Amino acid sequence: MINAAIIGTGAISDYHIDAYLSFPERCKITWISDVFPEKAGQKKKAKDLDAQIAASYKELLDKKDIDLVSICTPPFAHAETAVDFLNAGKHVLVEKPMAASLEECDAMIAAEKKCGKFLSIVAQNRFTDSIYNMKKTLDSGIVGRPLHVQADSHWYRGHSYYDLWWRGTWEKEGGGCTLNHAVHQIDILNWMMGMPPLSISSMLGNLSHDNAEVEDISISVLRYPRAMAQITASLVHHGEGQSIIIQGEKGRISAPWQPRASKPKPNGFPDADPEKEKEIDDFYRSLPKIEYSGHKGQIDNVLSAIEGKGNILVTGAEGRMALEIVTAIYKAGTEQRTIEFPLKKEDAFYTVSGIMKEVPHFYKKTASVNDLGGSITVGSAENKQR
Ligand SMILES: NC(=O)c1ccc[n+]([C@@H]2O[C@H](COP(=O)([O-])OP(=O)(O)OC[C@H]3O[C@@H](n4cnc5c(N)ncnc54)[C@H](O)[C@@H]3O)[C@@H](O)[C@H]2O)c1
Repeated sequence: MINAAIIGTGAISDYHIDAYLSFPERCKITWISDVFPEKAGQKKKAKDLDAQIAASYKELLDKKDIDLVSICTPPFAHAETAVDFLNAGKHVLVEKPMAASLEECDAMIAAEKKCGKFLSIVAQNRFTDSIYNMKKTLDSGIVGRPLHVQADSHWYRGHSYYDLWWRGTWEKEGGGCTLNHAVHQIDILNWMMGMPPLSISSMLGNLSHDNAEVEDISISVLRYPRAMAQITASLVHHGEGQSIIIQGEKGRISAPWQPRASKPKPNGFPDADPEKEKEIDDFYRSLPKIEYSGHKGQIDNVLSAIEGKGNILVTGAEGRMALEIVTAIYKAGTEQRTIEFPLKKEDAFYTVSGIMKEVPHFYKKTASVNDLGGSITVGSAENKQR
């Protein structure tokens, strides 16, 4: 039996709690903690948990009845909490984004190496049929080498979204929609490409949230050895249609699923290639459906690794790779020039204090409430186009 603790009992903790509760033979939630202990109390009641409550996570570091910790706090608190629990010999699953800087990511990875426990970063969209089986389709070689990838992180958030106390400042949220929303699509882009880009150019803006320091849009172009990609991170898109589209040498695949193939006429103009389209579609549809999806899929993956039955799918190194692209977007957008990978430790953007000093502060945060209430959405896990 794996004993789990939840740190931060706000909106996303529901997804972790529900996932743990769905595997009662394998795990038990023994502790929950929040800086507002009354929120932990409400969560315990709402979810009918047989768990104890701690006001500070530090009280939990030496508890014997904790093996695995889900960190569901705002981004600024991820690294310190994760490092403390790893050093205390606990496995850690941390919500996205992994942290607010590459310096923090490196501290987490160093702690993981030192203690020999697992560190995994939430990227629940990998655990969906559309993304998981798109990756298998790409890796099969059926569409050939990727030439162009389009990662659309199109979200919509109203003005009041930034009234929550930790959102809307570089210090606490760590960034805007590039760090906190597009990190999902960026992780998928990295996973599909299987390599870091060579360079990136970006523009940053805040078009519609004059109560936030951070960006509500960024548009970027990435160069790979023999491919290019584009990332749009936005909170101003109506309908929240997210997608990832890969143009391979021999065909197009995407999430949401839509295979396409063209072949050239003698004069080079395009003809449809229905045979190839069918071959791609048949391959994708022949793949088994994944057993558990979203957060449940990722928590199953982490439990299985602890049980010695598999590997962690989303590692600290991969969480860092997503952060490196986010950081490069901030650097390229701020300095208005093309940035090459890898980013160096001496770079001002390597640390949170450096990022805060360099980046544009678009507007001042105007309100701060402890809880916005209401339910949240976690995007279209299957990358639905609307
Ligand atoms: N995977 C996803 O799709 C997804 C969706 C939403 C949010 N998130 C991520 O989850 C994290 C939390 O977001 P949320 O929407 O649940 O926010 P939230 O404000 O609803 O919940 C965060 C909770 O953490 C508590 N907290 C803050 N600092 C703490 C500390 N040091 N120790 C213990 N508790 C602390 C807060 O009081 C709050 O109750 C963020 O990193 C966010 O990016 C992920």
